[in-house]
Amino acid sequence: MLTAQKNFEVGHELFERLTEARVRTDELFDLVRPDSLYERPIPERHRIIFYLGHLEAFDWNLLRERVSGLKPFSPEFDRLFAFGIDPVGGGLPSDRPTDWPSLADVRNYTSRLRESLDGGLEAALLSDSKPVGQEEFSTSLLLNVAIEHRLMHAETLTYMLHQLPLQRKIRKHGKPELMVPAVISRMIEIPAGSATLGLSRADTGVFGWDNEYESKTVGVPEFAIDQYKVTNGQYLKFIVGAGYGDRAFWADADWNWKTTHNISHPVFWKRVGDSWYYQTMFDEVPLPLDWPVYVSQAESSAYARWAGKALPTEAQWHRAAYGMPDGFERPYPWGVDAPGAKLGNFDFHRWDPTPVGAFPAGQSAFGVADMLGNGWEWTSSVFEPFPGFEPFPFYRGYSADFFDRQHYVLKGGSTRTAACMLRRSFRNWFQPHYQYVYAGFRCVSN
Ligand code: AVJ
Ligand code: FE
Repeated sequence: MLTAQKNFEVGHELFERLTEARVRTDELFDLVRPDSLYERPIPERHRIIFYLGHLEAFDWNLLRERVSGLKPFSPEFDRLFAFGIDPVGGGLPSDRPTDWPSLADVRNYTSRLRESLDGGLEAALLSDSKPVGQEEFSTSLLLNVAIEHRLMHAETLTYMLHQLPLQRKIRKHGKPELMVPAVISRMIEIPAGSATLGLSRADTGVFGWDNEYESKTVGVPEFAIDQYKVTNGQYLKFIVGAGYGDRAFWADADWNWKTTHNISHPVFWKRVGDSWYYQTMFDEVPLPLDWPVYVSQAESSAYARWAGKALPTEAQWHRAAYGMPDGFERPYPWGVDAPGAKLGNFDFHRWDPTPVGAFPAGQSAFGVADMLGNGWEWTSSVFEPFPGFEPFPFYRGYSADFFDRQHYVLKGGSTRTAACMLRRSFRNWFQPHYQYVYAGFRCVSN
């Protein structure tokens, strides 16, 4: 049957992508020294061992019944490893390493899940009776959810392992460091126009998460935006100028957070005597002044206020990235080509940032650089649903649990963002006081 054949091909391609995503996450656990898998490098997140179980349990809980009709064999673990998101406003309950199952038990569970799931998936994709795309939710939709969920964890786990002491990690190599000519920061005028956010449900060929629907077009008055992300060097001036101690630059909640936690610099920076150092994924190096700074939204906003500027709104960011002087909008800042290694620092080629301005081929039509890759960018927009939002019935809380006005939208992508999530409509979100993300910012003048 023609449709069954087509469905099998689509399913097969997705199955290959799932396999690739598994290689990504397996490689992450392999860089943790085996005696360190019960560490908790970030207090707001679970111990590493949780994620080992979570990645497989998530796929299993999502796909087991809907796709393969298999029966659970370890319901207790299925629940234990089901969800792992930071609760708002506080840490997870404190625990001890011994509260968690042994490594052997977790490994045993995860390999059994993968094996049964793959067997079931293969059968489902092969059978005529259950063609992909004909169930209540299509198998392709569910597989896309599994793939992107895993790839997102490939990124967030990397933030977490970044904070793990160097001696607990086994070094992996990426592409060599890029040497690029220094750039001069300047602002680019963006004329008034419109920006199209989100995805249309009529656009059936593409996958998007629940929070990407519906599509909406908004008018954006003229503004100016930094051509490059704010660098460590620029941010250092804010620090040297005592920006962390000046109440005037900080919103009330941000000042309280900063004071309570004694925060006086980005979490990736370390001060030794009079010098600043930077913790990369596998090294400690003198502070690279031409790399983008990675900070929380609170610190980004304080810098912007100090500079007499502001953070862009989600719509301004879109307009600068995708807008064109003739009024059209592009799917990517550089045009229509799929994201490739010459267009930006993304898709796992490197572990660390490159200097800003290293990818001129990736500039937007207005000449704004590095909008995708080399670090997410904070916006001033609260993470909210677009009109027409509907949660996925099989994962109602994915976005909806975070429409609490305590999360802000980030756009762009980092070194460790998979190419598929560089689509225009993708929206990331975090709490404004979360310092660990590979996220920085650029400023606007309104
Ligand atoms: C979309 C990256 C904010 O990790 O907090 C993973 C993604 N949701 N498992 C997060 C997610 C459930 C989420 N972010
Ligand atoms: Fe998850």
